[in-house]
Order: sequence, then C-alpha cells, then structure tokens
Amino acid sequence: MKAALVGAGYWGPNLARNLVAQRGLDGVVVCDLDPVKLEKMKERFPSVETTRDFDAVLGDPEIGAVLLATPISTHGPLGLRVLEANKHLFVEKPLASSTAEARQLMQAADAAGRVLMVGHTFEFSPPVLRAKEMIDAGELGDIFFISVMRVNLGLHQRDVSVIWDLVPHDFSILFHWLKESPCYVNAFGRDCVQKGIPDVAFINLRFPSGVIANIEVAWLAPSKLRRTAVVGQKKMLVYDDTENVEKLKLYDQGVDFHDPETFGEYQLSYRTGDIVSPRLSNQEPLRMEVEHFFHCIQTGERPKTDGASGLRVVEALEAAETSLRTGHPVHLEGRRLDA
Ligand SMILES: NC(=O)c1ccc[n+]([C@@H]2O[C@H](COP(=O)([O-])OP(=O)(O)OC[C@H]3O[C@@H](n4cnc5c(N)ncnc54)[C@H](O)[C@@H]3O)[C@@H](O)[C@H]2O)c1
Repeated sequence: MKAALVGAGYWGPNLARNLVAQRGLDGVVVCDLDPVKLEKMKERFPSVETTRDFDAVLGDPEIGAVLLATPISTHGPLGLRVLEANKHLFVEKPLASSTAEARQLMQAADAAGRVLMVGHTFEFSPPVLRAKEMIDAGELGDIFFISVMRVNLGLHQRDVSVIWDLVPHDFSILFHWLKESPCYVNAFGRDCVQKGIPDVAFINLRFPSGVIANIEVAWLAPSKLRRTAVVGQKKMLVYDDTENVEKLKLYDQGVDFHDPETFGEYQLSYRTGDIVSPRLSNQEPLRMEVEHFFHCIQTGERPKTDGASGLRVVEALEAAETSLRTGHPVHLEGRRLDA
C-alpha cells in the first residue's frame, strides 16, 4: 500500500523523511493546498508524488493510510473523511480541537475497523521511556509533585493558544508516567503579543493519587527550557530535553522525617547522595512512532497512543483553556489508566 501525508508545513517534512525511509510502502503521496510547499517537498524527497487535491487522496484505492500534519482545527473534519474513506489514520498532536471531535474520530475508527493513532511523539522518546521504567520500578518512591518548564522564543501560532500548541507534549508525558488523568485543572495566562491568543500559561494539575503538577509554557522567553523535575519520596528525577547527552539525571536526594525520641531532637535529616545519568538509546522518537503506526496496521494491535490517549489529552487541554478564559478551575473525572 501507499501512504499519504497531508500537510507539508513546518512539521510535515519530518514525517515525510520517516515515511520515505519506511520499509514495505509502495510509495508516499504528499498533499498540501500550497504548491510552493509541495515543490519544496519534491526537491527534498524526489521519490514522493505530490497533489493539492485531498479528494484525490481519499479516492485513491492504493493509499491505505493517511498521516495528518495540518493545523489543529482541521484534524477533526479531515480525519473523519479519511476514516470514512476506510483508510488508517495518524493525526499529529493534539488529536482534535475538542473532546466532541476526538470522540467522533474514535467512533469512526471503530466503525471502519481502521487504526487511529495520535502523534504523542514524546511517548516514543528514549528519556521519557527510561524515566517511566524508573517510576514504574519504584526507584523514586511515591511521587509527590512534578514541575515542568517548556518555554522559548516563538513560534507564535495564529489560530491556537500556547496551551493547544505546547501542552499536548507535557500532558501526554505526565499521563503516561503517572498512569492517570487529572481531576483538577487550573490555568492562568496572558495574551502578550496577539490579542486573544494566550502566549504564556501556568497550569496547575491535581491527580487522583494526590500528585500535583505545575506546567509553565510560553512562546516568549529569553532562553529555551525543556525541563521536567519529578520529586519522589525516595529520589528525584530531572529530564532536560535540551541536553545533548545527559537528558536524564536521577538524584539520590530527599528529606527523611523521624519521630523525635527526645524533646528538642531535630526531626528532619537531609540525604544528598549520588547523581546518576543513565545511558539512553539514540533512536529518533518520530521514527519509532511512524514504525509503530505501520506495525499496528499490519498486526491489528492497538496503538499505544490510541484514540483514548488522544481524547484524554484533548479533555485536559479543553479544561485548561476553559480555566484560563473563565478564571475558574475545572474539575474532571480523573481516571486511573490501568484500572
Ligand atoms: N509532534 C511534534 O513535536 C510536533 C511539532 C510541531 C507541530 N506538530 C503538529 O503538526 C501539525 C501541523 O503543524 P505545523 O506547525 O506544521 O503547521 P503549519 O501551519 O506549518 O503547516 C500546516 C500545513 O497544512 C496545510 N494544509 C492546511 N489545510 C490543508 C488541507 N485542507 N489540505 C491539505 N493541506 C492543508 C497548510 O497549507 C500547511 O502547509 C499540528 O497538529 C501541530 O500541533 C507536532
């Protein structure tokens, strides 16, 4: 079968590079409304066919799978048409621009018996996967809180807030690590540059287990920070995606509380032990993600980032955006994902 990539803007070429390298495909078709973008694609990847006609993609029986890298507002409507044309669907993050649209996509995929996968790229990233192994193995002990910074200068989007643009990454990472979705979302933000489009946001979350998290995102910042700190009862973990080699560091640090035996005895003891940076595989997350999509098509396996995973992220994004705009926290159901 052939695969089609729809959307050849900023992110599309990264998917195209991996599609062209994907074994077992009979060809790659790239579709975009903009002929200049298609020309650039053809220059960079001479083997791809190009078209401006989305209907032609849907009508081509040789195309069995479609990958959408178009603006977020188009994910729902274009994705629905792909599934109705009986083709497997990969949608870049976030799955849709509302929970209603995300649910429609899930229903359409079930009805057509086609694979639906969302591009939560970081769930395929070696440091995120290694951190999950450490958390699952109890190396950090019970997790107390998580603090995230994802800020840099640009790229300002014209149609969505910084929440819909950047936070899908952190929501997908946190929900994957903690195996739960939040029960409380509160967001605070501001539209500093373009009126009506918040470009900075501070989001607070609470999870059913009691874990709390803070996520700071901005398109306005003096330097690029991609730092997540996970503070556990036994150890602490820092994931810094801007580091070239030591992206993960596990700190054997913490504070132990002792019941005092004598009056006036100091009750806290501070531990400062080793800092360990585990060796990580250097596999490209996007490549793993694209391979996983085709593996699921071949085997009928459910993608690890399936429609339900996409819906959870969209639900929390919707809550954060509502909270930011109304000034009130939003309470969600908050579910254990392995229950
Ligand atoms: N996984 C990641 O790390 C990552 C990073 C960046 C962007 N993204 C996601 O990728 C998607 C695209 O983002 P972008 O920054 O590349 O956007 P973009 O605006 O640069 O590109 C979108 C492209 O889609 C085309 N397009 C729009 N409507 C179309 C239609 N109906 N038919 C055909 N082509 C159409 C546009 O002409 C444009 O070339 C978004 O969902 C974004 O969230 C993911």
